Amino acid sequence: MKVINTIQALRDELSAVRGQGKTIGLVPTMGALHEGHASLVRRSVEENGVTVVSIFLNPTQFNDKRDLERYPRTLEADCALLESCGATFVFAPTVKEIYPEPDTRVFSYPPTDSVMEGAHRPGHFNGVCQIVSKLFSYVEPDRGYFGEKDFQQIAVIRRMVADLGFHLEIVPCPVVREASGLAMSSRNTLLTDAERLTAAYIYRILRESKTWAAERGVEAVREQVINDINAIEGLEVEYYSIVDGITLADVHSWDESESIVGCITVYCGQKPIRLIDHIRYK
Ligand code: PAF
Repeated sequence: MKVINTIQALRDELSAVRGQGKTIGLVPTMGALHEGHASLVRRSVEENGVTVVSIFLNPTQFNDKRDLERYPRTLEADCALLESCGATFVFAPTVKEIYPEPDTRVFSYPPTDSVMEGAHRPGHFNGVCQIVSKLFSYVEPDRGYFGEKDFQQIAVIRRMVADLGFHLEIVPCPVVREASGLAMSSRNTLLTDAERLTAAYIYRILRESKTWAAERGVEAVREQVINDINAIEGLEVEYYSIVDGITLADVHSWDESESIVGCITVYCGQKPIRLIDHIRYK
């Protein structure tokens, strides 16, 4: 496994790889890697001749600077994990390398990027599109691997790929969960052990809500999820939206779409830490 810090060195390596007829898988990350990321990397290694993992804590997607400051940074441990998963290249550039000048591009794919996280974290998806479009241009991957934990992010990236005509397959990969059911996230390390146990209620209640959907309407299920989670000390729902799985527009009845997903954001604990998760109703 080779660690590369510049765009030019990455391009040189990848043009040699392409010359050998190998396919390229890209796994974009912000570091602080866990088993969820490892599952993306293993899948890419299985499906491609070469796997590039980018580690870049992208400042333009953080609307809250405190969130950026306290985001865990664990490059050495990340590289050890990636080596054990069989990654070929780690691309770990500096901020100056990626943004020699401020990126003034504006991406807009409503409603995918304007609802839920888009409404609560202004500019977040614009920053995601800025970095992911740059990575796609440098790497020109055959496949890009993204965790379904960030369900909305995948919907936005699909729109961007269609809009800009990137020629690659977006491969969504299932959420990896802790034994308690809590979705793995780099932010989980910021929770105390007790908060981690409390956070596990989020998915427990989401799963239970699938059984309510057989007898109750969309709005009643949505309200019950919010009430049940808020009733647990240490948890506070920011939003719970039940949406079409492709457009992410709100749905109002269970037969309105073939694909219906509930997306939640919850504040957990003292600091508090913002956690996201989702459940597929159909
Ligand atoms: O999902 C993430 O970790 C980030 O949003 C991504 C896709 C690596 C872009 O910075």
